[in-house]
Amino acid sequence: MKIIKLNAIDSTNSFLKNMVSKVVVDDFTVVVAKTQTKGRGQINSEWVVEEGKNLTFSVFSRFVGLNIREHKYLNFSVSLSVFQALKALRIPNLSVKWPNDILSGNKKIVGILIENTLKGNDLVSSVIGIGVNVNQASFPENLPNASSIKMILGKEFDLETLLESILMKLKDYFNLLEKKEYDLLEKAYLKVLYKKNVPTMFKNSQNTLFMGKIIGVSKSGNLQIELENETIQEFGLKEVSFATL
Ligand code: BTN
Repeated sequence: MKIIKLNAIDSTNSFLKNMVSKVVVDDFTVVVAKTQTKGRGQINSEWVVEEGKNLTFSVFSRFVGLNIREHKYLNFSVSLSVFQALKALRIPNLSVKWPNDILSGNKKIVGILIENTLKGNDLVSSVIGIGVNVNQASFPENLPNASSIKMILGKEFDLETLLESILMKLKDYFNLLEKKEYDLLEKAYLKVLYKKNVPTMFKNSQNTLFMGKIIGVSKSGNLQIELENETIQEFGLKEVSFATL
């Protein structure tokens, strides 16, 4: 495994994607930065962190024989790796909010951005960006749902040790992915899925509120919500949010 350590970079995902477009990059190359000047989040959002306090890194991974229709299992594998590494630190009330935020209670402590490269219908490689809020002591008011491990557990953690444990878990879960242990991955993911089977108020893309409960993830990776009239509706990433979060 090759780890490239940087002080400041725009975004570890962008850096690694650029590298992959220019040279042959070894499988499981990792880029970690002390700070990002243009950290990227999901749906074109920003990922802003305090310099040197948090883990911001990206992993390049190649896949063989993985169809794009199976991409949800890649997401399950990545989410579960980070979840398990954090669980070992005894962070309370951990869950995965679909598709891949890691929460403690209802506070977000990890964001994940997976950027895939396809060849036809094959998912040939991904750049997996992971931002873990580790030692940051506070967050701006516009991020009321953000927290850090330090804010939750009251002590600081060594970034390198945590990076190593996440990477080890990632290797384990990628082994399961390679072996197509899909039932196992899905069961493990659904077990830790935030608000699964809990009646919850949601908001759709038209800002309409509705009640329902999360029951799973569809074949194509969408969130499945059972409505009050017992019909099941599927939602993509931009199509639904929690009304209270
Ligand atoms: C989210 O919106 O929740 C996803 C955030 C992903 C942040 C990580 S930090 C390392 C990597 N580089 C980036 O620019 N983004 C990801």
